[in-house]
Amino acid sequence: MLRIAIIGAGAVSDYHHVPAIRLDPRAELVAACDANEKLLQQRQRDWGVEVVSTDPEAICARDDVDAVIIATPNFTHRPIALAAVRAGKHVMCEKPLGLNPAEVREMYHAARDAGVVHMTAFTYRFAPSMRYLKHLVAAGQLGEPRHFRSQRFLDWPETSWGWRQYQHLAGAGDLFDMTIHRIDFAQDLLGRIARVTGALARFAPRTETKDGQACEPSDVDDWSSILGEFACGATGVWEGTTLAKGYGRGGFGHEWAEINGAEGSAVYQLHEPNTVLLGKTGQDLAPVDVPAEFLKPADSPRDPSQGEPATVFRYDLVWEFVSAITDKRPAVPDFYDGLSAQVIAGAAIDSYHNRRWVEIPHEPR
Ligand SMILES: NC(=O)c1ccc[n+]([C@@H]2O[C@H](COP(=O)([O-])OP(=O)(O)OC[C@H]3O[C@@H](n4cnc5c(N)ncnc54)[C@H](O)[C@@H]3O)[C@@H](O)[C@H]2O)c1
Repeated sequence: MLRIAIIGAGAVSDYHHVPAIRLDPRAELVAACDANEKLLQQRQRDWGVEVVSTDPEAICARDDVDAVIIATPNFTHRPIALAAVRAGKHVMCEKPLGLNPAEVREMYHAARDAGVVHMTAFTYRFAPSMRYLKHLVAAGQLGEPRHFRSQRFLDWPETSWGWRQYQHLAGAGDLFDMTIHRIDFAQDLLGRIARVTGALARFAPRTETKDGQACEPSDVDDWSSILGEFACGATGVWEGTTLAKGYGRGGFGHEWAEINGAEGSAVYQLHEPNTVLLGKTGQDLAPVDVPAEFLKPADSPRDPSQGEPATVFRYDLVWEFVSAITDKRPAVPDFYDGLSAQVIAGAAIDSYHNRRWVEIPHEPR
């Protein structure tokens, strides 16, 4: 049995990681860590976990912990991941892995050199429609890929985002929270991005919390966009915003990602993750069911007909992490993928500030 500790017992751990551990007969939740003692006590009761601590280093040092999942605010990922790796623990870390490429490069090198399994929580790679899209591209079903296009539009309140709205804690806003996932799956589908130019904007000052308390204004983007060229020659366009009024879609927002190839187009949408839109030249895009083999990882006991489709594929992250450890192989996506996406996001920021395109050097493995 793989003994997992959760570090950062906030929203994503409660919604995704703990239910995923519960679903996996090969894994158990043995410890939880959070800086907020009150929340930790509540999680101890709700999650039924015996060992709790407010100290991530103490959790990482425990002999009865084999692997950790880091789901804390972005600025803490680096020190906690380095502590986990030093203690020889396998580590899955939430995205963005860090605040900038230099931090993330250090994390990747440390995990790689320690020989532990390392994984970046790039959730949307696991959507059935995304897995099928990858298959369609790799099998040449769309012909030579020419364009990648991604839209992530959310209608979020304009109140405070807490730690997420400050550069020193989050690194960036929409770009690191949302667009970085889309950078990752674009590279997974089409290979390395060779050059980018980016743009950021902030519209909402966010000087009030949800319950009306005053707070320091946000200094991060709430809209981000990237124009890019892949090494394969395809073009890429990304746009993300949290200010798209009317795009609630039951809390999931609007997500559209597509590839236009020389012979056909294929579309992924988050709110319909078990369907892709497909069209060959001369046809209109039409829905096609994702074949059963792409609905979940092959050996996973998860029943894909159960639960909210736009939620349940998120449990497959933990399945992959545990499978990689059990099978003694690298996890996919790993810290290298986290670094690769962080380099692109960082280059988009540099490009915006310097008003120029940025060439992306090849990052050695
Ligand atoms: N992959 C995804 O789809 C996805 C979705 C949501 C969030 N995330 C990522 O997960 C991370 C957490 O996001 P969230 O929405 O759960 O945030 P959150 O604010 O709800 O939870 C973070 C928790 O970490 C705790 N914490 C802060 N500093 C700590 C420290 N030093 N040690 C231990 N605990 C500490 C906080 O008390 C809080 O409970 C972020 O990096 C975010 O980008 C990823």
